[in-house]
Amino acid sequence: MNGHIIVELAYLLSAILFVVGLKRLQSPATARAGNAIAAAAMLIAIVTTMVDNQILSWTEIIIGLMIGGLIGGISSYAVKMTAMPQMVGLFNGFGGGASALVAIAEFVTLKGQIGVGTHGISVMATVIIGGVTFSGSMIAFLKLQEWMTGNPIVYPLQKTLNALLFLAALATGIFALGVGHVGDPWTMFWILTAISLVLGVTLTIPIGGADMPVVISLLNSYSGLAGAAAGFVVMNMVLIIAGALVGASGIILTMIMCKGMNRSLANVAFGAFGGTAHIDKSQIGKRPVKRADAEMVAAELGYVHSVIFVPGYGLAVAQAQHELRKVGDLLEARGVDVKYAVHPVAGRMPGHMNVLLAEADVPYNKLFDRDEINDDFPDTDAVLIIGANDVCNPAARDPKSVIAGMPIMDVDKARRTIVMKRSLSPGFAGIDNDLFYNDNNLMFFGDAKNSLAELVKAIRELP
Ligand code: TAP
Repeated sequence: MNGHIIVELAYLLSAILFVVGLKRLQSPATARAGNAIAAAAMLIAIVTTMVDNQILSWTEIIIGLMIGGLIGGISSYAVKMTAMPQMVGLFNGFGGGASALVAIAEFVTLKGQIGVGTHGISVMATVIIGGVTFSGSMIAFLKLQEWMTGNPIVYPLQKTLNALLFLAALATGIFALGVGHVGDPWTMFWILTAISLVLGVTLTIPIGGADMPVVISLLNSYSGLAGAAAGFVVMNMVLIIAGALVGASGIILTMIMCKGMNRSLANVAFGAFGGTAHIDKSQIGKRPVKRADAEMVAAELGYVHSVIFVPGYGLAVAQAQHELRKVGDLLEARGVDVKYAVHPVAGRMPGHMNVLLAEADVPYNKLFDRDEINDDFPDTDAVLIIGANDVCNPAARDPKSVIAGMPIMDVDKARRTIVMKRSLSPGFAGIDNDLFYNDNNLMFFGDAKNSLAELVKAIRELP
């Protein structure tokens, strides 16, 4: 078989594996395999490209793979589950930056004589999208890592400035192609690169607070588009396909997250919401609440017909999923009907709760989406809320609240609610939660893992 056909077949195999891998990411049960398949597809694509273009020798490829694999392996063990959004943010940034560098290299190789046409347009588009993705992702990373303020940074005429920067990027991109002979293509190209980097910063700084994970997902989509555009620059089919898949899945995920928070994408991208700098926080947690200990909570849960668990970010931080499952098993053994309610944005990233509960072997048929379970709360005896806050905050029903319209779990409609957290501190959105002060609510303070371990003991001791 001739070498060219082998290369094309390898690319085709890689593209098919990408699609199969992505499909398997649909369910926690098949997600691990999906991830491995997509990684294998990437390996095939990279090795094929390197060998086909005689970029590196086999020894160099293997050494490169070992170094990359080691860095990837160490970081995947070291990074906490809760820090995944910033890690994904960094990856997006590197992806966007790499694509922009491919386009810059092309411009330099062709000595600025790139010419108008699909190729020229691809180079300019890659620089713009890649540059915006790189600097935008770095800002998102700094915000999520809390190395800069997480609140929106706003100033007058912000949207106008962004629009002008975008138009300036388009104009310099066209001039860098030599259209109209305005200025020198090199100067125009470097101005274009600089504007793209600045635009990434100015587009990301007005977004903050609870909107940040949505931005990460949006930048993920951009990194895919930048990759696809870079694929057109070097005319690599598999890069175009992989980039398009990332771009499309990123935007679908972004839309799902926007829906979960009842926000439009335009509102997240340009709304400068998500911050609570204007809210008076001095009164948060100042009202009296009813406290409960493990024995009281065990008695509340152990003698009823139905209990719903609502896990949130606090469960993830405390890594309390295994203890929660034990509580569920013990209650079921006592004849209680136990369900797990999973809000689409509970935690800090999509599917966060599903992944954790799957890790603790909670059967999938006990997990219910918000839409599936919300009508059950009024007929439920007790709801146990473990480290969740915003996703149960009735303030979402108040049109004046910062989380107005966010679809919430209607836990306050159940006969009894029990909230497990360490204090009366607010959640991610930074606002107080009236649920804590309701007559039928009990606060069980403490770290979720320790408290659930106490609860396991207390339920075992119930007569
Ligand atoms: P949050 O509202 O952030 O509340 C989590 C609560 O967990 C906190 O109030 C905290 O209270 C408690 N906690 C922290 N560590 C704990 C520990 N070790 N043990 C027990 N409790 C602990 O979480 P949520 O209800 O899951 O809501 C998610 C938020 O993230 C929403 O605002 C959502 O919009 C936002 N968000 C999520 C996503 C995705 S895709 N998941 C995307 C965008 C935005 P204490 O400090 O008092 O313990």
